[in-house]
Amino acid sequence: MSDYQRLREWAADIFHGEKVQLRAIEDEDIETLCDWWDNPDTTLFNDGNIIRRRRDENAEMFRQWASSKDASGFAYAAEADGEMVGQVSVHSIKAPAMIGTLGMVVGPQFQDQGYGTDILEVALRLAFTEYACRKVELLVFGYSDRGIHTYEKVGFQVEGRRRASVFHAGKWYDDVSMGILAEEYFARHGEPL
Ligand SMILES: CC(C)(COP(=O)(O)OP(=O)(O)OC[C@H]1O[C@@H](n2cnc3c(N)ncnc32)[C@H](O)[C@@H]1OP(=O)(O)O)[C@@H](O)C(=O)NCCC(=O)NCCS
Repeated sequence: MSDYQRLREWAADIFHGEKVQLRAIEDEDIETLCDWWDNPDTTLFNDGNIIRRRRDENAEMFRQWASSKDASGFAYAAEADGEMVGQVSVHSIKAPAMIGTLGMVVGPQFQDQGYGTDILEVALRLAFTEYACRKVELLVFGYSDRGIHTYEKVGFQVEGRRRASVFHAGKWYDDVSMGILAEEYFARHGEPL
């Protein structure tokens, strides 16, 4: 098979996981993403402060993420059976370090059904095989047991804790920094072609 034929097959499948496919974030997704952002099942995990932002401010944030599709990263919606179930981005990839920062959310009603794991696998494949990332990293709040477990499941390792970084209900909680290197990703998945 020629390089072209192999790459053609590769390109046809690159946005597909076992349960989800990634696609562009469209205008009609913004309302749903704003609803998710305000939901206690996500807001405690995505924002250092529990605050009520104006809806148009949140909408603008998602619009900006949606339009960032240059060499520095990507932001996509994740869809399953025709419905948006989550959103994922790997951003701020910059030479020479080539470290991407991952952010994601799974809609409250779709959590704990395997979507997050699948979204992560597709996003890591894109980051390491198409964006030449040397590493993908993220910051997760120490009380996000499900987040930490899910990231470890796809190969992230805990790299450190930033102590007493987030304040809720009169108490300080740590941030946990996690990362996966390209060689660790390819050791798990092999070379794609
Ligand atoms: C964290 C998140 C991305 C994971 O996605 P998801 O679709 O819910 O995850 P999955 O269903 O693929 O996997 C969840 C895993 O966590 C486990 N889990 C669920 N609750 C848990 C808990 N309280 N403690 C530890 N593990 C837990 C599940 O058993 C499953 O692991 P398993 O497959 O080994 O059984 C998603 O739940 C989410 O967006 N949560 C709200 C926002 C958030 O936490 N974001 C992270 C910010 S960095």
